Amino acid sequence: MHNPMALDGRTVLVTGASSGLGRAISVLISKLGGRVVLVARNVERLSETLSLMDEGEHRVEPFDLNELEGIPRWMKQLTSEVGPLDGLVHSAGLHATLPLRVLKPSRLDELMKVNVSAAMVLTKGFRQRGVQAERGSVVYLASVAALAGSPGNAGYSATKGALVSMCRSLAVELAPEQIRVNCLAPGWVPTDLAAKAGEKLKDAQLQAISDMHPLGLGHPDDVANATAFLLAETGRWITGQTLVIDGGYTCH
Ligand SMILES: NC(=O)c1ccc[n+]([C@@H]2O[C@H](COP(=O)([O-])OP(=O)(O)OC[C@H]3O[C@@H](n4cnc5c(N)ncnc54)[C@H](OP(=O)(O)O)[C@@H]3O)[C@@H](O)[C@H]2O)c1
Repeated sequence: MHNPMALDGRTVLVTGASSGLGRAISVLISKLGGRVVLVARNVERLSETLSLMDEGEHRVEPFDLNELEGIPRWMKQLTSEVGPLDGLVHSAGLHATLPLRVLKPSRLDELMKVNVSAAMVLTKGFRQRGVQAERGSVVYLASVAALAGSPGNAGYSATKGALVSMCRSLAVELAPEQIRVNCLAPGWVPTDLAAKAGEKLKDAQLQAISDMHPLGLGHPDDVANATAFLLAETGRWITGQTLVIDGGYTCH
């Protein structure tokens, strides 16, 4: 039976594959027949993800995305060993609740580096000759924080808004190279990141966040399904877009 979401024969590099959404995305890609290069810093947690995946010639590839300058060279070396990449998913990301009175420029720089600069440089690495397969799909994990405000979230929102706007320009710039660039904007999905974001909130505040999602909070698989949709043939005429997956959060 024809499955337009099949990823047989495709190789996808997934950052943030050691946890949360990146883990669920890696598992689903493997179930759809794709091969995954799993990237994050923690090798043990990357191996845990690998143990959840369907078998394939996947590769655990520890890398610290703070090493921005080294990313294109690392991707060139990597693909000389694993072959060209059909997809790039940037799920690695940092969140910090930082009301303006405590926000320090150095903390903002840390968020920008992993959330935005790494996305840009990974895409620069992806478009190098020999790194990208004939056609490529790039997916950035943005957030509803790019689209709706909440207190203490300006720094994080700025990084996610940057992804949404840069994906539009990169989509136009890279279309002649057969590369599509899109964002996902998830609402609140329980993961390590979400737990950390919520740890200083009172139960009533957490309940209020949950209540703002008419369909309830999300599951990592909800985000993984949307990622696969953008990576596969189903997404072939979609570029420069932000797909909101938020259980209705932004409908208010
Ligand atoms: N969960 C949500 O509710 C939600 C909602 C909207 C958007 N998002 C976005 O979705 C993405 C994934 O979030 P998540 O909930 O899955 O978070 P998570 O569970 O905290 O995972 C974050 C991932 O980023 C990796 N990472 C962090 N710094 C890194 C670095 N310097 N180099 C390489 N990898 C690094 C971590 O791996 P190591 O520590 O092993 O390096 C980990 O795999 C993020 O961009 C987040 O902003 C999440």
